Amino acid sequence: MANMGPYENVKENFSWSISEKELGYHNGEILNIGEYCTDRLCRMGKKDKLALIWEGFGGDVKKYTFNDMRLLTNSIAHFLKGLGLEPGDRICLFMDKVPELYFGFLGILKMGGIAQPLFSAFGSDSLITRLEDAKTAAVITQKKHLQKVRNIVPQMPYMKHIIVVDDDGSKPLKEREIAFHMDQAERIEHFDIYPSKAETPSVLHYTSGTTGKPKGAQHVHYSLIAQYITAKYVLDLQENDIYWCTADPGWVTGTSYGIIGPWVNGMTQCVLDSGFKAETWYKFIEKYKITVWYSAPTAIRSLMKDGDEIVKKHDLSSLRHLCSVGEPLNAEAVIWSKKVFGLPFLDTYWQTETGCIVISNYPGMTVKPGSMGKPFPGIDATVLDLKTYEPIKKPGIVGLIALKPGWPSMMRTYWNNEITYKSKFKNGWYICGDRSSIDEEGYFWFVGRDDDVINTGGHLVGPFEIESALLEHEAVAESAVVGKPDPVNMEVVKAFITLKPGFQASKDLDLAIMNFIRKRLSPLAMPQEIEFVDSLPKTRSGKIMRRVLRAKEWGEEIGDVSTLENDM
Ligand code: WTA
Repeated sequence: MANMGPYENVKENFSWSISEKELGYHNGEILNIGEYCTDRLCRMGKKDKLALIWEGFGGDVKKYTFNDMRLLTNSIAHFLKGLGLEPGDRICLFMDKVPELYFGFLGILKMGGIAQPLFSAFGSDSLITRLEDAKTAAVITQKKHLQKVRNIVPQMPYMKHIIVVDDDGSKPLKEREIAFHMDQAERIEHFDIYPSKAETPSVLHYTSGTTGKPKGAQHVHYSLIAQYITAKYVLDLQENDIYWCTADPGWVTGTSYGIIGPWVNGMTQCVLDSGFKAETWYKFIEKYKITVWYSAPTAIRSLMKDGDEIVKKHDLSSLRHLCSVGEPLNAEAVIWSKKVFGLPFLDTYWQTETGCIVISNYPGMTVKPGSMGKPFPGIDATVLDLKTYEPIKKPGIVGLIALKPGWPSMMRTYWNNEITYKSKFKNGWYICGDRSSIDEEGYFWFVGRDDDVINTGGHLVGPFEIESALLEHEAVAESAVVGKPDPVNMEVVKAFITLKPGFQASKDLDLAIMNFIRKRLSPLAMPQEIEFVDSLPKTRSGKIMRRVLRAKEWGEEIGDVSTLENDM
């Protein structure tokens, strides 16, 4: 039987206090996510239950019980505190999906720090932007990523410690660098966990917008209340489940539902620290008898591309519940998964800013393939008129997805950027920045983003950050970056570039620019296509009209171009 009862009944009777009660939390008490995910579960008798089964790309396997996790997160917290790091300090996790990343996250929370997870694929430029904004006090990283941190150390006077989790002593560490080996560290039985309260900052997740630098969505320990119950109801996590969230904790899915949600529910979760390959993924599910699987449309489409035969070669009968997040889940993908796995992927919708699933399909509810489902009980969601910001009453009309503020895991601000945070609210609603319609039965149908942010394989990439980096290339005079359609990643980055005098368009220059961005920002931000143009479409006030370029790529109507200065 599913954890969640029939949708309408649950919605009628839901209040977040149900979650507080189940967690034994009372208003005003100490609330520390690190404690709730480890010590509390040990006290509940789960000491010897496996918390983490980890497999590296070389096939090595590590297993940790809840008690191991309790002790190791204590060790990390103790070590960080010993370095002089203090509650409220931002501590960045810059690692592949190794156990130290997962336990480091909880260890930081246990000592009162603010965890700042960043993708290990980020290059030095992406890194410095986010570390500079947060004035990060320490980075925990691996040897293989150390050089990217070293490149920017001189620019970071606020950075006190660079902690290397796999230093083998073969090369001397430099100033501010220090080794820490989690598996060899003394296991600390009693650590004085920081007495955080509901509103104490916990996590800082950077997300991209259309303009300006990436924004740090700042969350608090109280988010746990929403992450616990959404994981329980939507992911339907139950005592004997083996859960696999494929997301990297550099992305909010990898923390809300790859660390906090599953562990506060006492789940055994599996982590595969290797890139995508259908064969590897199916083997992983088969080997560990995964029952609940949370992934993303881009991965599902890649699996689809690899065909049905490879699925049949594996025993995937352990699977019982599949969910997806990050981008629109096409109806075909839902239908395909039903055919090959015997189960539909259930679409879930949310954001870095919302901290938890806000619109979703639920176990037992009729799935309409292509729809995102209905608001989570406790979430008041609607669509607003594009001009008046009033809720649209009629079904089928496209408007802005909006949520009534007040759910526990809502971001509390954008770090250093209260102005942008405030701009997200209209008429008492939080505006998500996406467009959707709602049908007669209350199902939401995603239409698209309301801004220029590119969603490539579920990851948001800000055009501004890429355009700024492109300007640093010697050949680039101006650029405009838009998303272009892609069968697997939904969108990929395309850059329109005007060249400086003396530079000629060529295949070599194409590649050089692509590589330049890949190294400085990340592989996701790298343009998959470059088009050299003589000029870019601009408004009379000189703003580049990405909308015009984007519409061309998507074969859409260009819309109102009355302010356009030059014709392409
Ligand atoms: C998009 C991800 C369609 C959307 C957890 C949103 C989706 C942005 C869906 C947030 C979905 C996420 N269907 N679009 N089911 N889920 N999105 O902050 O544009 O990385 O605003 O958080 O991804 O991306 P973020």
